[in-house]
Amino acid sequence: MTYLIKIDELNMFYKKKQVLYDISFELGKKEILSIVGESGSGKSSILRAIYGIMPQTARAYANKFEVLGESIFSNPIKNKGIRNMLGKKIGVVFQEPGSTINPNIKIGKQIIQMFGYNFNLDKDSSIDIGKNVLESVKLDPDFIWESYSYSLSGGMKQRVSIAMALMLKPDIMIMDEPTSALDATVQKKIMDEIKKLHKEIDMSMIMVTHNLAMAYNISDRMIVLKDGKIVDMGTSKELVSNPKSDYTKKLIKDMPRF
Ligand SMILES: Nc1ncnc2c1ncn2[C@@H]1O[C@H](COP(=O)(O)OP(=O)(O)OP(=O)(O)O)[C@@H](O)[C@H]1O
Ligand SMILES: [Mg+2]
Repeated sequence: MTYLIKIDELNMFYKKKQVLYDISFELGKKEILSIVGESGSGKSSILRAIYGIMPQTARAYANKFEVLGESIFSNPIKNKGIRNMLGKKIGVVFQEPGSTINPNIKIGKQIIQMFGYNFNLDKDSSIDIGKNVLESVKLDPDFIWESYSYSLSGGMKQRVSIAMALMLKPDIMIMDEPTSALDATVQKKIMDEIKKLHKEIDMSMIMVTHNLAMAYNISDRMIVLKDGKIVDMGTSKELVSNPKSDYTKKLIKDMPRF
């Protein structure tokens, strides 16, 4: 298997409203793929189809839909198999900052439980690894360890979510606007750190963002989405130096520092 995800002609609907049209792409091993597009273009919907947590009213259909060797044959897609891989094999950072953090348990205790559940890891090792990764996303690990999520800012929660997903060293990391609550300087630091970790732990990534410059800086390949359709796809260099659609050209023109 040379790719970890292969999707062929994904179409998605909420009730009768179609929001994705014939979406086809692959995610290679160790590859960083970004999906760029304006609000409502369908970025999160593509991710929802992949990690398999969709609203009741959503239906997704595809010719081919493979994630980590798990093939989907039913149409509409029901990816229970993929849901079972969440956490350990597929790390997800959701668009709503901190939505995966349990508000009733101190962050440190949650991390110990997470390591115990997924890897049977003892408390001391969990503390070591956990605090290390928290530090790598520029947080004070001792403070975070003793905190509940309600006492943290949106940006801190976002970084805790990224750190917790990274701690399990997933094969695929899926991130939906992972740094939207952070200012530009911290944003860059975190993305640099994620990129470093991605190299160390043999991880592929899909990142969703409306920020073309950030996508260009971090990813090997990019997809530009407009109104539920792919209007451009290619290596980041190719796409920025030789965009196919007028829409991508406009995005590039509006890109800061370009
Ligand atoms: N649960 C839902 N029920 C009905 N329509 C939905 C639902 N979720 C999203 N949509 C619609 O589907 C389309 C795509 O939404 P999606 O959330 O995938 O966009 P997005 O690119 O992630 O946008 P944003 O940048 O604002 O997060 C939009 O028109 C949105 O209004
Ligand atoms: Mg979204």
